[in-house]
Amino acid sequence: MMQENFVKRIAVYPGSFDPITNGHVDIIKRGLRMFDEIIILIAYNPSKVYLFSIEERMEMIRDIFKDYKEIRVDCYSGLLVDYLKISGANIILRGMRALSDFEYEFQMALMNRRQTKQIETVFLMSGFKWFYTSSKLIKEVASLGGTVKALVPDNVNQKLMDKFNIGNNRG
Ligand code: PNS
Repeated sequence: MMQENFVKRIAVYPGSFDPITNGHVDIIKRGLRMFDEIIILIAYNPSKVYLFSIEERMEMIRDIFKDYKEIRVDCYSGLLVDYLKISGANIILRGMRALSDFEYEFQMALMNRRQTKQIETVFLMSGFKWFYTSSKLIKEVASLGGTVKALVPDNVNQKLMDKFNIGNNRG
C-alpha cells in the first residue's frame, strides 16, 4: 500500500561544471539525503566560455558517479525550466557559497519561479572546506602550473593536467 503512494523526489542539479569540483560533489552527495534521484544537468550559461567540451564534462561526471544508481547525468541547451518539465522533476538543487553567490542565485531562482510556479529551488550551503572553491579559479591556477589536486576529483585533476600539458609529477 505504502509503495503505491510513493512519489519519487527528483531534483535537477544544473550547472556549467567546467570542470566539476569537490564542492559540487559534496552538494550532490548531501542532496541524496533529501532526494531519491538527482539529475546532474550540464546546462548552457551564455556568459561563460568553456574549457571542456560537453562530452568531456559528461564523461568526467559519469566516471565520478558510476557507482550511484540514484544519479543521472544529462545535458541541455535550452531553458532550465523546460528541461524540468520534460524530465518530470520539480526541484532545482543549487549550492550556495559565500555572500557573493547570493545575488546571482537569488536572481536565477526568482526568474525560474516566474516562468513556472511548479518549480522550487533548494539551496544547500557549500561545505566549509569548499567555501572558496570555484571552477574558474581552479582552471586559472591549473593553467599556470599550480596545484589543485585537493580541490577536484582525481580524474578531473588528470584532465586538467592533460589540458594544460602539465607533467604527472605536478598537480
Ligand atoms: O554553474 P553555473 O554556470 O553558475 O550555472 C548556471 C546555469 C547553467 C544553471 C544557468 O545559466 C542556467 O540555468 N542555464 C540554462 C538556461 C536558462 O534557463 N537560463 C535562465 C536562468 S534564470
